[in-house]
Order: sequence, then structure tokens, then C-alpha cells
Amino acid sequence: MVVKKSCTAIAPCSTANLGPGYDVFGLALDALEDRVRITKVSQGGSGITIRMLKNELAIPADAEHNSAGLVIKKMMQDFDVNDSLQVEVTKGVPAGYGIGSSAASAAAAAVAFNALYRLKIDKNRLVEYAAEGEIASAGTKHYDNVSASLLGGFVICRIAGDKWQFTRIEPPKDLVLVVGVPSIEVPKKKTEVARSVLPKEVPLRSVVHNVSGAATIVAGFALKDVEMIASGIDDVIVEPARKHLIPAYDSVKQNALAAGALGVTISGAGPSMIAFMKSKNARKVAGAMAEGFAQAGVKSRTLVCRPSQGSRVV
Ligand code: HSE
Repeated sequence: MVVKKSCTAIAPCSTANLGPGYDVFGLALDALEDRVRITKVSQGGSGITIRMLKNELAIPADAEHNSAGLVIKKMMQDFDVNDSLQVEVTKGVPAGYGIGSSAASAAAAAVAFNALYRLKIDKNRLVEYAAEGEIASAGTKHYDNVSASLLGGFVICRIAGDKWQFTRIEPPKDLVLVVGVPSIEVPKKKTEVARSVLPKEVPLRSVVHNVSGAATIVAGFALKDVEMIASGIDDVIVEPARKHLIPAYDSVKQNALAAGALGVTISGAGPSMIAFMKSKNARKVAGAMAEGFAQAGVKSRTLVCRPSQGSRVV
């Protein structure tokens, strides 16, 4: 079965939710990437050894608690692979900031394993494998970051019966994003924490508001209309429940809008914030977001980026 000794894949960071599309929308971003190299050390003696590089948040290197490790473990089981594998994960996407760090490792792991063993798994199923990795950081599977990181572009995740469906739409060429990443300490299980503050029930009028926004975002991507995408970003369910977890949230948002951003929201489970715009205002928006964080005494990093094409074997 083994035809290559080693394989490396790269996967980009991503933003999830885009306001009203909680757990449904993902967008791959070309700002930062994770790299996963899988090497077959020997046949037999099945096992996974993980080496983490640039691992600032000290992500555990045991396969059970590592997003790349969980993905590879599941794929080994399903495809009856009994080799000893060495996995090297180079973290380019900082963990815990809401820009799909665990998803990037998971997507790169799934793509590298698929290529190493020439499994020719279809992309939908590869996303399902990559989602296994989210258990390591979020406690549950969610597909929005992994689908975007793996497939690239804008992705809609939907469960139809018992099958997941991932619909990719190519974003408009003039869409530019600014991600504001505050330098704050984040809890180890940040996504779990950010999910625990969400309401269990929501008023119907809020659902109507968010569904209309989500539909507008999808229409905006389909019609390649940045203004339309940004006009749908407003979220009355998740953002109000989570924004207290982000220092100076309202001022950063106001600053970005005043500097020319067309829409601003939390990136995934936060604490990063993301602004949507056309290219001309991006630098100004980045400065305005950094200033908003600075006014609250918080250092930050801003990433000006565009949608990414997703994972690739290198
Ligand atoms: N949709 C997930 C959440 C993304 O908002 O909890 C986590 O990165």
C-alpha cells in the first residue's frame, strides 16, 4: 500500500461564522499557514509520534490531544494502516485566537495522509476526517474552519440527513479582510469557553434577523459583491453573547467602521476580530483596529489578507 515515504501539506488559517453563520460559514484566509509532514518510519509497530515546531501555546504532542494526531489516528484505523508514523507540525497559525489554528493542522494532516497513501479520498470526506481534529481544541467537531482551510474560498457547511455537505463558493477578487489579533492570554480550552456563553434558546425575531443576514452573505459571495457580503455580517445572537470576552470590542469595531470597513465581527470564537472591505481602505482599517485595542491597553497584531485557495501538497 505504501508508495511514498514522506508527504507534506500546507493549510491556511480561516475565519468562521462571518457573523450570522455560526458553525455554518467558513472563509479561508491567506494570512498564515500550518505545515504538516508525515513520514513513514517503518512498516508494522503501528503508532504516531508528533513533533511540534513553533508551538507557542504548548499544544500537546500526544496524538490523543493533538488535532493533527486525532485526524491521522482515525485515518489509520479506517484505512487499516499499521505503520509507525512520524508527524512534524509547524505552527504558522497561532493557537487560541479564533483564526482556525487547530483546523489548519487538521486539514494539512488529512491532506498529507491522503497523499502519502494515495487514498484518493473525495474532498467532502477529507473534510469529515479533518473535523476529527477539532475535538482536541473545541471538545466537539465543528466543520466551518476545517472545511474552509481544506477546500479554500467561502464554504457553507450543512448536514443533510446524516451526511455533511460542503458547498464552496469562490470569493470576489476585490474582497480584503483585516484580522485584529489582540495579544491577550486565552484559556487553554478557549473555544469550549466561548461556546459555553452562548444562549441555549433565542427569540424568533433574532433568528429571522440572522437568517436574512446569512442569506445576504451567500448571495454576496455568489454575486461577487463585497458590499452585499458585508451588509449581511450583522449578528444579533452570537456577537452580543461573546463580545465581553474581547477587550475594547465596541471601540475596535467602531474604529474599523469609521476607517472604511464595510462590516466587522468576531473571527470564529474570538478573540480576534475581522473586518470586511475592498482593498483601498485596508491599511487605514488595520491602524484603526490596532488603535482601538491600544486605547484599552492591549497590544495587537493586524493581518491584512485575502481569501485563500485552501490546502495543498508541497
Ligand atoms: N463556529 C465555531 C464557534 C468556530 O464559533 O464556536 C470556532 O473556531
